[in-house]
Amino acid sequence: PAGAHRDAAGRLVVGGATATSLAERYGTPLYVVDEADARARAARIRTAFERAAASVGTTVTVYYAGKAFLSGAIVRWVSEAGLGVDVATGGELAVALAGGADPARIGFHGNNKSIAEIERGVAAGVGSIIIDSEAEIERVADAAACAGRIQPVRLRVNSGVHASTHEFLATAHEDQKFGVSLERAVELGIRIRAHASLDFLGLHCHIGSQIFDSAGFAESAERLLAAHAELARLAPVPELNLGGGFGIAYTSADEPTPIEEIARGIAEAVAAACRSHGVPVPRLAFEPGRSIIGPAGVTLYTVGTVKPVPIEGGWRHYVSVDGGMSDNLRTALYGADYTARIASRVSDAPPALMRIVGKHCESGDIVVDADYLPHDIEPGDVVAVAATGAYCWSLANNYNHVPRPPVVAVRDGVARVIVRGETESDLLARDAGLDAAPRDAGG
Ligand code: LLP
Repeated sequence: PAGAHRDAAGRLVVGGATATSLAERYGTPLYVVDEADARARAARIRTAFERAAASVGTTVTVYYAGKAFLSGAIVRWVSEAGLGVDVATGGELAVALAGGADPARIGFHGNNKSIAEIERGVAAGVGSIIIDSEAEIERVADAAACAGRIQPVRLRVNSGVHASTHEFLATAHEDQKFGVSLERAVELGIRIRAHASLDFLGLHCHIGSQIFDSAGFAESAERLLAAHAELARLAPVPELNLGGGFGIAYTSADEPTPIEEIARGIAEAVAAACRSHGVPVPRLAFEPGRSIIGPAGVTLYTVGTVKPVPIEGGWRHYVSVDGGMSDNLRTALYGADYTARIASRVSDAPPALMRIVGKHCESGDIVVDADYLPHDIEPGDVVAVAATGAYCWSLANNYNHVPRPPVVAVRDGVARVIVRGETESDLLARDAGLDAAPRDAGG
């Protein structure tokens, strides 16, 4: 997180609290979120997009993508920063509502929402439901009609641009499950407009995640604008939502473009495309998740064993920690890169190639694939893994019956639990085959 530093004793300080005091108080593994940093990132992104939008004569709504990490506290932080909340399931919707998010500023996503989820969204008065398929037009229209409401909706379009880190490749037919094809956007937009219970806000696309420059967004916006303009010639289309996906630094090799520059690049591309199509610049919307909460989080672990293993040309030290792929699945799932540091002390020992691994029963249980840490790392050291605020807690699981760790927020040196950790009893209590578990309780 911004402002993380070492104290005089060489201990890592996050949000004003030492990593060692947090580890002692709450145990490890532990997710730590720097509250001030998360709030500041939310505010900075909102300002960046507002300025960019204003420079092309329009306005913008920024939604926090809750899939990155959603809890009551986070909902409050992003709401106080003036952001809406983007949810992708009934469960995320429930947290956003219970956390006090303004329903009118909730966007409800999902490529296969159940009828019950759609009905909950409509009943809650969410500001938009993002229609992801042809079939969903009727489903949302019916739910809204039954509830006696007019539901604002967006249509998610597959722009054919798929952007990933450091590159983007454009293909005519993107082979993925989300959205409707660009070729059908106009036809389906017209179909949406034919329903009295639906209010068509505009098109939506999301081209990927962990993207480092604005070119992919610009390309995608240009493609969408052709369909947008065709619809806008029939009746005004107030908005264009370009999703999230802004990249963050996981290691020193990552150099994301400042969000201000990205925002400007996108706004200019939209404005230029609108000019060439002769339509007014619509209101804009974005849905960043990772770039708000990712860098604000660190995970603390305690080292259990260190094993030097010979590899070609030297050694690799396997540092086993007390968590692993149950609290951070990203390395196993995506080959993600992370940075690790000893948090409990500084060391003058020369750095050596380390692989931070977990306690799970498979060799792919890697937290940090490769980083250089002091050679004298030893059992008992507290290790911090940076930039774990996004898609770590939200992808956490109970593999090997390991309880999920708590999440602690720190601010001005004061720590508080924002998500309680699981206990072994939590896990046993759900096992209906155990005598200790209540029978037929819950679903
Ligand atoms: N909007 C939509 C429609 C999305 O599908 C996503 C992410 C976002 C916004 C937010 O994207 P962000 O700004 O956080 O990049 N589990 C993967 C990332 C999956 C992203 C899914 N959709 C990971 O850990 O890298």
